[in-house]
Amino acid sequence: MTLTRSTVRGIGSYLPARTVTNAELSTTVDTSDEWIVQRTGIRQRHVAADGETTSMLATRAAQAALADAGLSAADIDMIVLATSTPDYTFPATATQVQEAIGMHHGAAFDLQAVCSGFVFAVATADKFIVTGAARRVLVIGAETFSRILDWDDRGTCVLFGDGAGAVILEAQDGAGTVADRGVLSSHLRSDGRHRAKLYVDGGPSSTMTTGHLRMEGREVFKHAVGMVTDVIRDAFAATGTDGEALDWFVPHQANKRIIDASAHKLGIASDKVVITVDRHGNTSAASIPLALDVAVKDGRIKRGDLVMIEAMGGGFTWGSALIRW
Ligand code: UT7
Repeated sequence: MTLTRSTVRGIGSYLPARTVTNAELSTTVDTSDEWIVQRTGIRQRHVAADGETTSMLATRAAQAALADAGLSAADIDMIVLATSTPDYTFPATATQVQEAIGMHHGAAFDLQAVCSGFVFAVATADKFIVTGAARRVLVIGAETFSRILDWDDRGTCVLFGDGAGAVILEAQDGAGTVADRGVLSSHLRSDGRHRAKLYVDGGPSSTMTTGHLRMEGREVFKHAVGMVTDVIRDAFAATGTDGEALDWFVPHQANKRIIDASAHKLGIASDKVVITVDRHGNTSAASIPLALDVAVKDGRIKRGDLVMIEAMGGGFTWGSALIRW
């Protein structure tokens, strides 16, 4: 049976130049390098310069992905951009990127699923491609979380960073088996009952302000491993695969302890786990494409490899996607 698959044609990412170490943070809040590394695995994060917006980071990542794919903006039908830190309340940051890369056709829109945004965006793009509504979709995760942090709250300000990553998904015929290249399965979940555990305390319709990120870290942690492993098991069940069949596990990079516990529970060997949280911190919707790009560029992820991505975040939202690279 021939069917359409969304295959990865190119990938790119961008990180702001400035890095902030744990030691630097310990001069402004009551924390230490030791606490942050032990509890999260984070050693440094990138922070956008004054005036450097989410759309600027996203545009750099998009241009890198286009170059990697050997394509131009004219070849793209649609942009799906996942972010919780848009340049403006509206228009969509995706349209700013569309303009910046010189694309004046097709459609561009933002998608908001906080840290799960990239998985939701991949799943959304995949639906447009497999139904024939789009042939090539630029999928971006981009964030400037530094702008919504309360820099006096040591419980959150040490965790997050800024950055952007992008992939280009392209329609290709597949045989309908797990040997096909492309997105093989995606599984999305949300549950609004958990809103107060991880949220931003502002917004246009409530406070008319941007607000700051608030998190009950321990509560989020408690739910994270169970939720993530559930949606990964859904992907395994839908495709007849398991932890051993994976070549690479590229999880959302929030906390190394969550990543290690999830991999262990799923029978995924630690040398198959891509970790960037040490260098990037938690970049929310950008964390997975940033990690994918690192592992592609350093030669770990190769064409034909079976790659599991997953994330969990505010909402709560959570999801997984199994991709043959
Ligand atoms: O991407 C979206 C999803 N988000 C996440 O996945 C984050 C999930 N949560 C976590 O990663 C962890 O819960 C944290 C890293 C946020 C916190 O680690 P924890 O082991 O759950 O620590 P805790 O919140 O239970 O706090 C332990 C202690 C507390 O002190 P007391 O009450 O025991 O005296 C905190 O006040 O650590 C204290 N603490 C800190 N100490 C030094 C909290 N933040 C810091 C800090 N430096 N930055």
